Amino acid sequence: MITLETIPELKLKLAGIREKKLEIGFVPTMGALHPGHISLIKRAKEENAAVICSIFVNPTQFNDPQDLEKYPRTPEKDMDLLQKAGCDLLFMPKTEEMYPGKDPFVSTHKKVDLGALAHVMEAQQRPGHFEGVIQIVSKLFDCVNPTRSYFGQKDFQQVAVIRAMVKQLGYTTAIIACPTLREPDGLAMSSRNVLLTPEDRKKAPLIYKTLSEVKEMALCQPLDSLQEYGREKLGNAPGMKLEYFQIADAATLLPVKSMNDAPSIVACVALKLGKVRLIDNMILK
Ligand code: PAF
Repeated sequence: MITLETIPELKLKLAGIREKKLEIGFVPTMGALHPGHISLIKRAKEENAAVICSIFVNPTQFNDPQDLEKYPRTPEKDMDLLQKAGCDLLFMPKTEEMYPGKDPFVSTHKKVDLGALAHVMEAQQRPGHFEGVIQIVSKLFDCVNPTRSYFGQKDFQQVAVIRAMVKQLGYTTAIIACPTLREPDGLAMSSRNVLLTPEDRKKAPLIYKTLSEVKEMALCQPLDSLQEYGREKLGNAPGMKLEYFQIADAATLLPVKSMNDAPSIVACVALKLGKVRLIDNMILK
């Protein structure tokens, strides 16, 4: 695996790959890789001749400076995992490489109209977060110009935002959303899980348990009562501070009242467990 740190080096290397007309699979990450990330690399490997991963903890998508500071960083372990998974190229730029201006928050910003996606769930709880995601992912797409790009479905709204961005900015990359990988007790794999205290780690599977119960009950109970159930169960759990439990149209992420309101419906949740913010979701239909 080749590791590069600068955009000119990356572009030069990619020019060689493109000359050979090879398809490029791209997995953008913020590092602290876990088996969920590695499943994206493996899928990219199955579907493309060359696989590129980026590791960049993007400061502009963190609305909380403490969250940015605490975000786990394990570059040596990440490189080892990527090498073993068969990744061909790792792009690991420094902040100055991606944001050479004085202030990362104002440079290189592309405008995307997110419509309702800008007003619900993650967008509401984390002002500016998706602007930061668009800023970095568009910049990475400009550098890599991938054939296919791979994202985890755990970040359900992020995938919807990136699809909207691709459409509006005219990128040609296909966006492939891949299933969430879970620990044996159901907790969705996330780089942030290592930050949980042992006590909180034991409490965390309640999120998956509640989502699974709601999915089962969705066959026979009205959605508003299920939403209440989810909100009460997670909102009242010791140590958990619920931000939202929302049942929504999986395409628009707008709230729905009945299973007949949309072709696909998703339950999304975000909460703080101790000091760690966790999100998860489950397709109900
Ligand atoms: O999902 C993530 O890890 C990040 O939001 C992404 C897509 C790599 C952009 O920084």
